[in-house]
Amino acid sequence: MCGIVGFTGKEQAAPILLDGLSKLEYRGYDSAGIAVRDGDRDVDIIKAKGRLKILAEKTNDGKAVIGSCGIGHTRWATHGEPSENNAHPHRSDDGNVVAVHNGIIENYQELKEKLVRKGYAFYSDTDTEVAVKLVDYYYKKYEGTPVDAINHAMVRIRGSYALAVMFNEYPEEIYVARKDSPMILGIEDGESYIASDVPAILKYTRNVYYIGNMEMARVRKGEITFYNLDGDEIEKELKTIDWNAEAAEKAGYEHFMMKEIHEQPKVVGDTINSVVKENFIDLTDIGLSEEDIKKISQMYIVACGSAYHVGIAAQYVIEDLAKIPVRVELGSEFRYRKPLLDKNGLVVVISQSGETADSLAALREAKEKGVRTLGIVNVVGSSIAREADSVFYTLAGPEIAVATTKAYSTQLVATYALAIQFAKVREEISEERYVELIREIKTLPEKIEKILKDKERIQWFASKQVNAHDVFFVGRGIDYAICMEGSLKMKEISYIHSEAYAAGELKHGTISLIEDDILVVGVLTQSELYEKTISNMLECKSRGAYLMGLTTFGRYDIEDTVDFTVYIPKTDPLFATSLAVIPLQLLGYYISVAKGLDVDKPRNLAKSVTVE
Ligand code: F6R
Repeated sequence: MCGIVGFTGKEQAAPILLDGLSKLEYRGYDSAGIAVRDGDRDVDIIKAKGRLKILAEKTNDGKAVIGSCGIGHTRWATHGEPSENNAHPHRSDDGNVVAVHNGIIENYQELKEKLVRKGYAFYSDTDTEVAVKLVDYYYKKYEGTPVDAINHAMVRIRGSYALAVMFNEYPEEIYVARKDSPMILGIEDGESYIASDVPAILKYTRNVYYIGNMEMARVRKGEITFYNLDGDEIEKELKTIDWNAEAAEKAGYEHFMMKEIHEQPKVVGDTINSVVKENFIDLTDIGLSEEDIKKISQMYIVACGSAYHVGIAAQYVIEDLAKIPVRVELGSEFRYRKPLLDKNGLVVVISQSGETADSLAALREAKEKGVRTLGIVNVVGSSIAREADSVFYTLAGPEIAVATTKAYSTQLVATYALAIQFAKVREEISEERYVELIREIKTLPEKIEKILKDKERIQWFASKQVNAHDVFFVGRGIDYAICMEGSLKMKEISYIHSEAYAAGELKHGTISLIEDDILVVGVLTQSELYEKTISNMLECKSRGAYLMGLTTFGRYDIEDTVDFTVYIPKTDPLFATSLAVIPLQLLGYYISVAKGLDVDKPRNLAKSVTVE
C-alpha cells in the first residue's frame, strides 16, 4: 500500500524514480511525487494528483528534473483526500527535511499538537507531514546526526512506517527507517536503491538487503550502513533475488492480469514441483518434520481476501484427507475474537505479499500464544516469511495486477500438498490413494492450459454481460469456495455487484433479489452435490434468472437447464478449485475490459494492504 522508491548514484535520479514508481503503481495510484537533489543544491519537489503518467508528463519523463539523488512515492490515500497537497514527498517548514512514507502513524494527532505548540505549521492533512516535522524537530533539538533524529522520532511514533528521508545538510544521502511496512535496499555498481517492493528495482539490481523492523539505514552511492534503535551499526547479509526483470513486464499482453492468468500453468507446476517429487512429497525444506505433522491437533488458516478463499477451499481438502479439524479465519477478525488456540495447533497464514497488516498481526498473536506458525507466502524476505516458524514459498513470481490470479492458484496447490502429506504421515489415506493424488496434482498445469485455450467463449459471454448489475455465484461444498473467489474477481475489477452464496442458503432470504435476467452462475464440480445445486439454480430460473453453469466435461445434461455452459477437465473433486477458478478469472477480466475499465488497477484498491 503506497509505493516508495529511492536512488542515489551516478545516473540521473528522476527517470529511475519514475520507472520504479511505474512498477509500484499497483500499490496505490491516487497521486505521486518525487524529490530530487543535484549535489548540494536545494531539493526539487514535484507532485501530481492522479495516475503516475500525469507526473511523468509534468517532468518530461523525469528529464526536466536534474540530480542524482532522490525519493519518490505513489500514494493510496489514508489520511487526507487524494490531492497534490497531500501527495508525498512532504517537507519541513524550512525544507531541511524531505520524506516519503508508507504506513499509518496512529498517534499523529497527538504528535501534531505537540509540534504546533513548538511553532510548526501544517499544510496537509497527512500523517506523513507530522513524521517529517517530528524528525526535523529532533534534528534541530539535539543537533545530532540524521540517524539520531530519526531514532528519536521512531521512539515517539506509534503505528507502521517505511520512511525515506533526505536532509539538506547531507547531500546525496538518503536515510530510511522501517516498522511493519515493507522496504528493501538494493545495491549495484556504485549505486543504491530503495523500494517498498522488489519489482521497482529488479531492472537495476537483484542484490538486496532486507531492513528489519525498528531499524534504520544510511544510503549513500553504492554504500549502505544499517543501525539499530540505539543508533549502533549492525551487519546485514546481502541476498540475491531469484525473480528476473522480465517477470515484472507485460510481455506483449495488454494487461498484467491476462499475462498472469496465462502464467498459471507454469507457476502452479513450479510450486507443485518444489515439494512433490516422483511419487512422494517432501516438506523438509519447509521445516515440517513427520513428528511435527503427527502432533497437529487443529489447524487455523488465517488470511485476507482471495487468500482467505484459498483457506476456505483448503479446509475441505485438509479435513477430507488428513482428518485434521480446520478453522478458517479472516486476518482482520482473528484477534478480535480472542481466539482460543490449542497449544498443539498449527496456524497457517496465507499471503501473497507477506505484508498484509491484518495477516501479520494474526501471525504475531499466534506466536505470542506459543502456537506454531506456517506462512504460505510468495514474496521472499517479506515480514510474514521472516516471522513465521516455517515457510512454504509459492513460486508465482512477481504479481503486478492488483487482482490476484496466479498467486491464488499457487497458494491452492501449496495447501493440497500439505493436505496430502499430512494425510499420509497421519496414516489417514492408503499408499494407493497417496500415489493417485500425487499423480493427479501433477496433471493440474496441463488442465489449466487446456481451459485457457478456450478463453474466447468466455470472452464472447462476457461481452453479453457488460450491463449486468448483480450477479450471484452459487455452489455447495468446495464449489461454494470457488464461488467466493469468482464473485470477488467479478466485483473488484468489473465493478458489478456480485455475491457468492452457498446454494442451499438462497431460499433463506436472498432469493427475493432474483428477478428477470439476473445472472446466476452455478458452480457444479462436485458430483454428489450436482443435483442439489441444479435444483437451486432452477429455483432461480423460475424467477427469471439467466443461468450460467460451470461443470466438468461429461455432465452434458446441464445444457437442459442452463443458458450457457463452461466445461472444465475432470480432476479429483478435491482439486476442482484449481480448474474452475480459471473461467471465473477470465469472466471478470473480459467484462472489465469490455467496460473499458482499468483492469490492473481497479479503483480504490491497492495491492499489498499494509494498513489494518
Ligand atoms: C483480490 C486480492 C486480495 C488479496 C488480499 C490478501 O484479488 O488480491 O483480496 O488476496 O489483499 O493479500 P495477500 O495475499 O498479499 O496477503
